[in-house]
Amino acid sequence: MPVALITGASEGLGLALAHEFARAGHALLLVARTGSALTAAAAELARATGVDVHTHSADLSTIEGCKSVECALNEYGLHAEFLVNNAGIGLSGPFVENGSDDLMRLADLNMRAVTDLTHRLLPGMIARGSGGVLNIASLGGYLPGPFQAAYYASKSYVMSLSEALAYEVAGTNVRVSVFAPGPLATRFHERMESQNDIYIRFMGLMSVEQAAQSAYRNFVRGRMVIVPGFINYISAQFLRILPHTLLVPFAAWLLRRREGASNA
Ligand SMILES: NC(=O)c1ccc[n+]([C@@H]2O[C@H](COP(=O)([O-])OP(=O)(O)OC[C@H]3O[C@@H](n4cnc5c(N)ncnc54)[C@H](OP(=O)(O)O)[C@@H]3O)[C@@H](O)[C@H]2O)c1
Repeated sequence: MPVALITGASEGLGLALAHEFARAGHALLLVARTGSALTAAAAELARATGVDVHTHSADLSTIEGCKSVECALNEYGLHAEFLVNNAGIGLSGPFVENGSDDLMRLADLNMRAVTDLTHRLLPGMIARGSGGVLNIASLGGYLPGPFQAAYYASKSYVMSLSEALAYEVAGTNVRVSVFAPGPLATRFHERMESQNDIYIRFMGLMSVEQAAQSAYRNFVRGRMVIVPGFINYISAQFLRILPHTLLVPFAAWLLRRREGASNA
């Protein structure tokens, strides 16, 4: 049975994307670490939309976790018609003060897992001649981000990989798109203690429902790079052309943790 496989789908943007796919009638396989949150999300999705919802608990920052996703598909008798690489984490503060384990976890989840799952599942889509991959990057993927250096770099990787793969799969009836939102109203910022940083106040927070609607609608239309919201879209056009000598200090101003700023 074909499913939309969505990573990081227990909350935030991933859960909102799951609702979009389910409303369009797609059965789902939801992946995240916390089994109880996945079960609750699946029950609500099945109740609201009537689609079949499967769950699989895995830590995608590990090689075994990614492998286990393919095993879960086989065990359930499913194949991934769509793969949404949404699970991702942030990390703020000066790079040299970031914990080594935290940095490696970010690299493993935001880049290695995206690469691994896409490499496992894209060949089947090409062989069947249908489906696609929707990778979740960020507006931060357009520029270097001092004080969130590894996170911004990881999202540049996702953008670059996605655009290259979109070219490679042209003519196969399979699409690869990348979604690059600005800040979203999720617990993502709290988790890296940046919820009161200037970039949030400067850019505001978009709801995950609005972001997910834009991502799904434009993915279905076959748009390769999707930036939700007019202001974000215009920002992305400027980020493409402005020199990094101007952009990097501006990004640093937005992302630097202020002395005495309360993130409690
Ligand atoms: N929030 C923003 O402002 C923003 C802006 C631009 C782009 N994005 C991107 O959008 C995506 C979703 O962000 P979000 O704000 O929705 O995040 P979120 O609210 O923090 O949710 C993250 C999701 O990923 C799962 N997850 C975390 N670590 C995992 C791991 N090691 N293995 C498997 N699943 C894991 C979490 O569940 P468990 O903890 O149970 O595993 C949860 O379901 C990310 O790629 C992020 O970079 C976010």
